[in-house]
Amino acid sequence: MITMTIDGKVITTKTNKTVLQVAKANNIYIPTLCAFSGLETRSVCRICSIEVKGEAFLNTACSTLVKEGMEIITNNDKVRNARKVLMAFILAEHGKSDNLVGQINKLAQELGVEKARLELTTKPDTASILPHSEYIKLTPALCIYCDRCISVCKYNIIHRAKKGATVTLTFGDNNESLDKTNCVHCGDCISVCPTGALAERV
Ligand code: SF4
Ligand code: SF4
Ligand code: FES
Repeated sequence: MITMTIDGKVITTKTNKTVLQVAKANNIYIPTLCAFSGLETRSVCRICSIEVKGEAFLNTACSTLVKEGMEIITNNDKVRNARKVLMAFILAEHGKSDNLVGQINKLAQELGVEKARLELTTKPDTASILPHSEYIKLTPALCIYCDRCISVCKYNIIHRAKKGATVTLTFGDNNESLDKTNCVHCGDCISVCPTGALAERV
């Protein structure tokens, strides 16, 4: 067992846990985006940024393991500003605020990201929808590359291709229609997607 503090609260906990897990167990809220309960942690969004006293740079709560004597700050100006800038950047790069649905919109509001900043986006107003499946559609302009769908797919069908501004999602070995892969149309990728980029084709 180790003893540490989160926002001044003294906590005794087992080792081998992340700051996010310990915070949750102690009813301390840290916003998250790419992290999803039960899925492998890929730590790509940094929305869960926290300050570890004594360290120059912010850490991510979903990937930082707790240690004896650690002092964590989850909610000061530095972390709030970092989360806000990160969210604005994620949306400006990859999303169009008016089109986004579900969790991402709520989170953007919660973090205080103003609409004006989101309009910096260079994405087209009308999101293009790829004909990836008879049952499932992907709207790339709504994708924020959180990797949840990649982690959740038990059949290893969804992948990332390229990096940075040209990043894209691909399906199967040759980026084919989902219907030509081993996809069983379980819908798990749709249910974890925080933006509606993956959705049922109706
Ligand atoms: S519907 Fe299920 S099997 Fe198909 S890509 Fe999504 S998670 Fe994988
Ligand atoms: S499709 Fe959805 S779940 Fe998959 S990476 Fe994009 S935003 Fe995340
Ligand atoms: S929730 Fe921790 S990096 Fe995305």
